[in-house]
Amino acid sequence: MKHSCLHRLLLFSIFCSIALVLMGAKTAVEEGDLTEIEVQIGSDTWIAWCLEEVAGKKKIKKNNSIVFIPYDDLVTRFRKKKKKAKQANDAILKKKFGKKQKSFKNLSNAATPVCEGLQNNEDPEQGQDPEDGSGGSDENPQDTYFFANGDVTPLGKEVFEIPSQTTANAFVGEVIFQNTCLDCHEKRYRPTMPLLRQAISPSPMSFTEDVFPDQDLADLTAYLQIGRSPLLE
Ligand code: HEC
Repeated sequence: MKHSCLHRLLLFSIFCSIALVLMGAKTAVEEGDLTEIEVQIGSDTWIAWCLEEVAGKKKIKKNNSIVFIPYDDLVTRFRKKKKKAKQANDAILKKKFGKKQKSFKNLSNAATPVCEGLQNNEDPEQGQDPEDGSGGSDENPQDTYFFANGDVTPLGKEVFEIPSQTTANAFVGEVIFQNTCLDCHEKRYRPTMPLLRQAISPSPMSFTEDVFPDQDLADLTAYLQIGRSPLLE
């Protein structure tokens, strides 16, 4: 009895290690498997790639084969490196790997909802058409301010006073908040887009339109509005 228990445990741990190795591995892919997307972090635009709903980096090897590395794997990799550097008391390396970890985390946060959206064919433009909305998505945009991928619904834009032609994504806004606001204060409230512009324009913030474009403001508004739902109001 005891023997077979140990045996199973051993088999299970072998299975787990193989699974972990497979999960962490770079994936060899064909050009056509990847979709190129652009993500906005703060005021920078980055190119990222989707392999189905996973966001990551494309790498072309010397023999011209293509590999795909999920951002989340890179986050894990640099978290481990940071930990090792910390144990070795290497402050400079620790900082370097910490920065890498954070920037891949930001990329993952910004790109994953886009890849998931592509995968679900959840074009936010289509959500505006009530006939389309009932077909593909299980959410009715009339009942909610957010789509599952973090995009604000047409109804949400009306309530948050975000212009209908501007996209607004709460996950992208979260990254902007972490990078631009969190240093000074963690004030959480739920302003409309025009009120937020008013609040952050005076000194010491001075986030006027020329330094903090409306697109960033729309995403930030979406983030600050998280948690609101017409069903609760
Ligand atoms: C350089 C530090 C700093 C940064 C960065 C910063 N703030 Fe502020 N913020 C302040 C200070 C200081 C005040 C208080 C100013 C006052 O009320 O006189 C303030 C006040 C506010 C207020 C309250 C204004 C009101 O009308 O009550 C809001 C809302 C706000 N900040 C939002 C943000 C957001 C959103 C960001 C990121 C886009 C941000 N802040 C970035 C320093 C900062």
